[in-house]
Amino acid sequence: MKKKLNILVLLDVAGPTALDEDLSASLQTEDWKTQANVLAALAQLGHTVEYLAIFDDLDLLRQKFLTFTPDLIFNLADQFKNNRAFDQNIVSFLEMHGNAFTGCGSTGLTLCKHKAISKKILSYHRIHVPQFTVIARGKRGSRPARLKFPILVKPLKEEASYGISQASFVETDEQFKERVQFIHEKHNHDVIAEEYIAGREFYVSLLGNHQLTVFPIRELVFQEVPPDEPKIATYRAKWDEEYRKRWGLQNQFAEGLDPGLTKDILQTCKRIYRLLTIDGYARIDLRVTPNNEIYFIEANPNPMLAADEDFAQSALKSGLAYPQLIERIIRTGLKTVRE
Ligand SMILES: Nc1ncnc2c1ncn2[C@@H]1O[C@H](COP(=O)(O)OP(=O)(O)O)[C@@H](O)[C@H]1O
Ligand SMILES: [Mg+2]
Repeated sequence: MKKKLNILVLLDVAGPTALDEDLSASLQTEDWKTQANVLAALAQLGHTVEYLAIFDDLDLLRQKFLTFTPDLIFNLADQFKNNRAFDQNIVSFLEMHGNAFTGCGSTGLTLCKHKAISKKILSYHRIHVPQFTVIARGKRGSRPARLKFPILVKPLKEEASYGISQASFVETDEQFKERVQFIHEKHNHDVIAEEYIAGREFYVSLLGNHQLTVFPIRELVFQEVPPDEPKIATYRAKWDEEYRKRWGLQNQFAEGLDPGLTKDILQTCKRIYRLLTIDGYARIDLRVTPNNEIYFIEANPNPMLAADEDFAQSALKSGLAYPQLIERIIRTGLKTVRE
């Protein structure tokens, strides 16, 4: 029997909050199912659990520590002041404090969040990445001639497919210019424009620091999307149930993969995880072309942990039930050396 721990679950909220804020109403909602699932699992595991939500005031952590001394912080805070780019700063603060916490450290979060830096590192190590260009806000940016259509125009540092719709897929310079301007002005983000990689879309979940466990591969299938149409996990494709039904979008286990290809995918993902200095747990998004070329799309350290999301579903398939997965994440967090 492993030692029971004092665990502080760190959450983010969308507006100013108090030390003893009661979040039980939010925890009933669909939006908070990750937080609710994790809290329930921690209770089931017998740990002593408290939570703290932060908006823009890290002093709440200091105040919380006056009455509760956690062995570990379970980090579910991925924004600060409603800004998702600050996840790495929250973690930097925990690192400076010397708190043990779950998930990825500040360097991994920073490298993965920046969709151009991560690709530069991986391409140096000969992992296939789409050709891309970055266009900062305030720059007019036209398409470099080496970048071939079709192109996908994305925010440089976003997640959850914010800013990604069918209009992100562009086939002319006119559409390119329009979409870049839209992301600059309406989303207030710099742009990364990438060559569109046609192929199957895979999600690979990994856990660990040095010794890595790779869980069974998931795939997003686009059953009702005609073969010649672009297949993109847009914002609606991820979050709009009606839309998912209409186009036959389904997250499922990858079927019919050649064993050699499966092995290549798993090896590639382990290399990516290490090269981007990820620790804790992560989901890596790939595309595999009809010629079985593996392309890196994105690494997601601290992916969504809800029991019905790809990460937990993959773990479950390999025999790791949800509370045991949460326990593994905790033990991994306790072992991580942060400096
Ligand atoms: N270069 C690309 N080629 C093909 N599809 C892409 C490419 N980049 C992104 N996509 C599609 O868009 C989705 C979201 O892109 P991603 O970079 O993962 O953004 P987010 O961080 O918001 O999830 C991917 O899951 C994939 O379906
Ligand atoms: Mg993604």
